[in-house]
Amino acid sequence: MLKNKTALITGGGRGIGHAIACRFAREGCHIIIADLEVKSEKIEALRACGAKPDVHMADLADEEQIVRLFSVIGRLDILVNNAGVYGPVKKIVDMDRAEWDRTFAVNLTSAMLCSREAVKKMMEQRSGSIVNIASNVARRGLPYRGCYVATKWAMLGLTQTLALETATCGIRVNAVLPGPVPTPHLDEVMECHARVEGRNASDVAEDWRLSAPMKRFIDPEEVANVALFLASEQSSAMTGQSLNVTGGFLMT
Ligand SMILES: NC(=O)c1ccc[n+]([C@@H]2O[C@H](COP(=O)([O-])OP(=O)(O)OC[C@H]3O[C@@H](n4cnc5c(N)ncnc54)[C@H](O)[C@@H]3O)[C@@H](O)[C@H]2O)c1
Repeated sequence: MLKNKTALITGGGRGIGHAIACRFAREGCHIIIADLEVKSEKIEALRACGAKPDVHMADLADEEQIVRLFSVIGRLDILVNNAGVYGPVKKIVDMDRAEWDRTFAVNLTSAMLCSREAVKKMMEQRSGSIVNIASNVARRGLPYRGCYVATKWAMLGLTQTLALETATCGIRVNAVLPGPVPTPHLDEVMECHARVEGRNASDVAEDWRLSAPMKRFIDPEEVANVALFLASEQSSAMTGQSLNVTGGFLMT
């Protein structure tokens, strides 16, 4: 489905981003990963899916590193803005400004900057697809997660606005809203919630698992399949859309 295409997946070194990279690779896509860290076994896993990945170590909270990254990559057909952190797990009343700013830099500003650089290339090509990985908390608040929640709501605003600005240029911009996906990110965040709520991490996990009508977590592969659909020509008439992959937790 992605033969002869090139995709940059931010934060593709592990978790959901790595599952997306593997899924795209199996469709014949050339894979570029930008991440703070990529373990050798993750590169091997990509090779096993048929990729010869280009791996770039970069802190995407840093604009200079983003600009440098885009100056060394050539044609780009697909950008997946996936890199993200869960941010401070505390109430707004206790919020720390530096933690807030860092979370916005990684989750939102990096997506804007990568999109800005990608769109310059895609405008020349008159084609491209951008997929933003948001979250089920992009549609409703969550106590102790005000910062993360705000970044993900803002990501939908970014998605819709960029979609409108590029709609006649052959560029499409869409978002995926995953529910809880078992990754290192989720394990850490559930432990933080357990700590601030004075509960066991296993009880928090059980609550979150049961909160969706399907009463289960989401597999990274299930997110990757929807990202593939949005990245590919299968969704050629869709732009500015946000697709929920939440086991029925979100319905609008
Ligand atoms: N896991 C979930 O339950 C879940 C649910 C909804 C949305 N999401 C979103 O999906 C995306 C991926 O989450 P995940 O669960 O795979 O997380 P993860 O922590 O397993 O992976 C995130 C990746 O992003 C990279 N990264 C973080 N900061 C970076 C930076 N400054 N520069 C470059 N790379 C950086 C990390 O090194 C890591 O490889 C995130 O945007 C997250 O908010 C996750």
